[in-house]
Amino acid sequence: MSAAAQRVTSALRNTLTPTAKRLADALPRHVVDDIFGQALKRQQGVSMKYMLEFGAHPIEKQLILSAQFLHQELPVRLAHRVAELENLPFGLSTKRHVLKVRDWYVESFRDLREFPTVRDHSGEEQFTKLLRHIYTRHKNVVPVMALGVADLKRELRAKGGLSEFPEIHSFLDGFYMSRIGIRILIGQHIALHDPPQEDHIGLICAKCSPMQVAEDAIADARSVCLRQYGTAPEVDMYGDSNTAFPYVPSHLHHMMFELVKNSLRAVNDRFEDADNEPPPVRVVVAKGQQDVTIKVSDEGGGIPRSGMPRIWTYLYSTAESPIDDLELEVEGGGDGPAALAGYGYGLPVSRLYARYFGGDLQVISMEGYGTDAYLHLNRVGDSAEPLR
Ligand SMILES: Nc1ncnc2c1ncn2[C@@H]1O[C@H](COP(=O)(O)OP(=O)(O)OP(=O)(O)O)[C@@H](O)[C@H]1O
Ligand SMILES: [Mg+2]
Repeated sequence: MSAAAQRVTSALRNTLTPTAKRLADALPRHVVDDIFGQALKRQQGVSMKYMLEFGAHPIEKQLILSAQFLHQELPVRLAHRVAELENLPFGLSTKRHVLKVRDWYVESFRDLREFPTVRDHSGEEQFTKLLRHIYTRHKNVVPVMALGVADLKRELRAKGGLSEFPEIHSFLDGFYMSRIGIRILIGQHIALHDPPQEDHIGLICAKCSPMQVAEDAIADARSVCLRQYGTAPEVDMYGDSNTAFPYVPSHLHHMMFELVKNSLRAVNDRFEDADNEPPPVRVVVAKGQQDVTIKVSDEGGGIPRSGMPRIWTYLYSTAESPIDDLELEVEGGGDGPAALAGYGYGLPVSRLYARYFGGDLQVISMEGYGTDAYLHLNRVGDSAEPLR
């Protein structure tokens, strides 16, 4: 890390508010009781189909109903996460960054619980204001959690202990999945207030074009690659440009961006010193009855079979870890990592996005040749949210 970066990081350490390790020491008794009470309630799942039907005509009455639902549901979901964050294995719960995340959840929980029942238009507007605030507050949860996990990993490694943590991995899967759900619920409500966009119902585009979204994501991934390597392999697209289905374009963009970044990096690394042009990455979009499937294929040399399970774990990356840069990025209020690779979050988080609406992500590799990633997206959109 550069001297300047070190200065900023240590300045940052000092500005982070010290936070009590146990909830009971940080909060009044009645709040702790309320959190654990809400954490015992069941979370109510919502499907894309429901969101589409519900938001089709966002008249005032529906906005009020939506606000009332969120006013009940969000504290339950937040409380589940707070309770979980309080009891993580290997002492992860007491890591500085994890406590920070927990405190954001607690703050949002309290804001919501203290908010009066939404009964009319003006209550709904105030409530939406609060939702916007919460949405922004939680913006950096993924990278800040990553810093907490990275801390733990370093600590356990130094002690010569574990380097694989299935419990933590499964916690993070559930935690990030829940975050996707919370953000889509909030984002959907907020978006219903925005000026109507053609074919959009909130965040969902009823006629999302996978070719178009893929094209944008490819352009973004190639520009990151160009910045980092000074060159970027070509990406060829195959498929029917008329294909359209209801989906959340920002989710699809995220997944495609991650997959294409991975392929570009692999191809670049493999053909860096070659005389001829690197082989293009191929993106194929197919529409079936049940799924829209997108394949991202590269000739980047593949992944050894023994390494396959690890690609789905958090913080596994074969790239040099820019975790110190991440610290700066996060605290500087940036929107997230801009490097081509290195956090190890690309694949596991993309798979969560795919699964959230009933799809999936698979990666198949031929070591010595290349990798194919298959992104399956459920066309029907009636699968229930995966909650736990
Ligand atoms: N197309 C691919 N070809 C070869 N290896 C790959 C490919 N995709 C993923 N990998 C391997 O899987 C690892 C994990 O990928 P993942 O996208 O989760 O993290 P990352 O790319 O290292 O970092 P980031 O979080 O920035 O995406 C990579 O570091 C790389 O070793
Ligand atoms: Mg990646």
